[in-house]
Amino acid sequence: MSVPTAEGEPAEGDGHVSAPGGAASVTVRVPAKVNVQLAVGAARPDGFHDLANVFLAVGLYDEITVTPADALRITCTGPDAAQVPLDATNLAARAAIALAARHGIDPRVHIHIAKDIPVAGGMAGGSADGAGALLACDTLWGLGSSQDELLDICAELGSDVPFSLLGGAALGTGRGEHLTPIDVDGGFHWVFAVADGGLSTPTVFREFDRLAEGTDIPAPTAAPALLAALRAGDPTALAATLANDLQPAALALRPSLADTLAAGTAAGALAALVSGSGPTTAFLVKSAAEAALVANSLLGSGTCRTARVADSPARGATVVEGP
Ligand code: C5P
Repeated sequence: MSVPTAEGEPAEGDGHVSAPGGAASVTVRVPAKVNVQLAVGAARPDGFHDLANVFLAVGLYDEITVTPADALRITCTGPDAAQVPLDATNLAARAAIALAARHGIDPRVHIHIAKDIPVAGGMAGGSADGAGALLACDTLWGLGSSQDELLDICAELGSDVPFSLLGGAALGTGRGEHLTPIDVDGGFHWVFAVADGGLSTPTVFREFDRLAEGTDIPAPTAAPALLAALRAGDPTALAATLANDLQPAALALRPSLADTLAAGTAAGALAALVSGSGPTTAFLVKSAAEAALVANSLLGSGTCRTARVADSPARGATVVEGP
């Protein structure tokens, strides 16, 4: 196999020995997410915020392929590959290092990320790569970790990483890492408008703190009506209850997002909101046909870089090629 890398060099075929399980490589597919409710509490002493974070996995995917190598390295392809760090700050590298450390082995692996999830867009693309690399390395190295063991490592890596592993729909509490799965009866159709450039999650949370200064911030709770709409697979009811407490902060930092939200609503979306910390905006629509129409209108509006359609809920991290 020859994988074109961000630097354009061939990545494989360099005389690797097989992993203990005998696999030459393992590929894991991991979905993006949208937060259908993101209720944010006051900043905690550790700098994080308590959340009631209702996650929904959506069908835009990164694929993580791990192959035995002489040393840990990362490559990335995809339209936004140039924005992905290829050093040890990448969550995929940190996942491989954390898993290897737990088992006293060397993380000698080449991690290739085929990136389709918008980068720094509020869709947990980095978290997806962390969860995907973790499952892929666990499979490649034949470790057979339980889901709970993997979820523990995910929580160390970042607040959204456990959900990327789990997928489906779930309520996240604490800083978002304690998950309670939610059964969804049916599915939802979405359009995502991808903005130019990213937004830094810590910066958006700091802006939330600044906007909230001097006000009483209630403890975050999930709205019963939203949870009921999600369980019932009812898009009209879900549209009426979508809520993101980070949206005012994202709009303050990127005022042009208001034009994108307005363009999607004018095109017939049931509801519009900023996805997580943004700047991707999410539009709930009633059908796949409607999604195509809204995506075309958004593209024509000139208020976004690109528009993507996706269905939900999507499966969590899944081995699609392996031993
Ligand atoms: O957990 P993660 O590394 O993804 O968080 C990135 C940043 O987002 C944190 O450093 C923090 O600034 C902010 N954050 C927060 N409260 C959360 C989750 C994230 O303030 N519950």
